[in-house]
Amino acid sequence: MAKQKLEDLDWKNLGFEYRDLPYSYNEEFKDGKWQNGGLTTDSSLTFNEAAEELHYGQEVFEGMKAYRTKDGSINLFRPDMNAKRLNNSAERLVMEKYPEDKFVEAVKEVVKANADFVPPYGSGGSLYIRPFMVGTEPVVGVAPSSTYTFHIYATPVGAYIKGLHPMPYMVSHYDRAAYAGTGQAKTAGNYAGSLLAAKEAKEKGFAGELYLDPREHKYIDEFGGANFYAIGKDGKFYTPKSDSILPSITKKSILQIAKDLGLDPTETHIDVNDLDQFTEAGAMGTAAVISPVGSLTHDGKKHVFYSETEPGPVTQKLYDTLFGIQSGDVEDKYSWVVPVE
Ligand code: PLP
Ligand code: COI
Repeated sequence: MAKQKLEDLDWKNLGFEYRDLPYSYNEEFKDGKWQNGGLTTDSSLTFNEAAEELHYGQEVFEGMKAYRTKDGSINLFRPDMNAKRLNNSAERLVMEKYPEDKFVEAVKEVVKANADFVPPYGSGGSLYIRPFMVGTEPVVGVAPSSTYTFHIYATPVGAYIKGLHPMPYMVSHYDRAAYAGTGQAKTAGNYAGSLLAAKEAKEKGFAGELYLDPREHKYIDEFGGANFYAIGKDGKFYTPKSDSILPSITKKSILQIAKDLGLDPTETHIDVNDLDQFTEAGAMGTAAVISPVGSLTHDGKKHVFYSETEPGPVTQKLYDTLFGIQSGDVEDKYSWVVPVE
């Protein structure tokens, strides 16, 4: 694949797709230790045909963004939390851990080396960063790998879901993750398992699928790539409490923002049959940022939230505050922003 040329980029219409940037980061784990990695211009990885990750899915990944600020500098958002979550996922998949301070430094190196590709302030774009780790040992029996590759690539992206336009979603009859399964880990298999549900939702004209809890199929869990929230008629912020969803860093941040905005946030079970109690709903995540849910269709019944064409006022406020902090326009009270320098 050819390297992306800077002059070929249209900052306002980036979409959410892979572009091959000049630099990635690579490090190998072998002989019981990480082997001092570094930047590389090689964006291809080569594995043995029996490599663990190809057959038994020993893979964990992260998703984070670098944002250009008004003064031209570049911000990361809570990268230490991504470092921690990668290791939590690694623990669930019985993989090596990657040192958390090194993770943040490696991310910074990748951003600095590709700084020309961080979209300009005001374009709506950002640099999406994808750190990941795979088990590389050739194995036939199912067992954890003893060798790993840690790698980071970056790619400039626009909004995953463009602008603050409400979208229609459907409740899937598939599960994303099993009860006591790998739902809390950011691992490839959870996403492979969601492809059919997402395909069927798209074929029916929905923007995506929402999963229910895998035990009772009663409570809302999350979307294929984002956590769920809703605003109650009581004006409060609600988000699902569940052991089978990804602990979203955006959600953790929004819980604090909602508290500061007086929305009395609660993590609780949200019964899919109680949608009438909510005035707004949305998706939250690194790629999704805050995306309003216009409607949710469950068992053929469509429930419209605030509006199918306009974001609700609380959703707008949450978005403005979160994106404002990330891009340096709103006071960063909790030191979430980490400048890349
Ligand atoms: N849930 C799933 C399944 C995801 O893939 C993501 C994206 O990372 C999220 C939630 C949101 O997590 P975060 O806010 O940390 O990006
Ligand atoms: C992210 O938000 O970083 C994700 O990993 C979601 C993915 C579906 C693009």
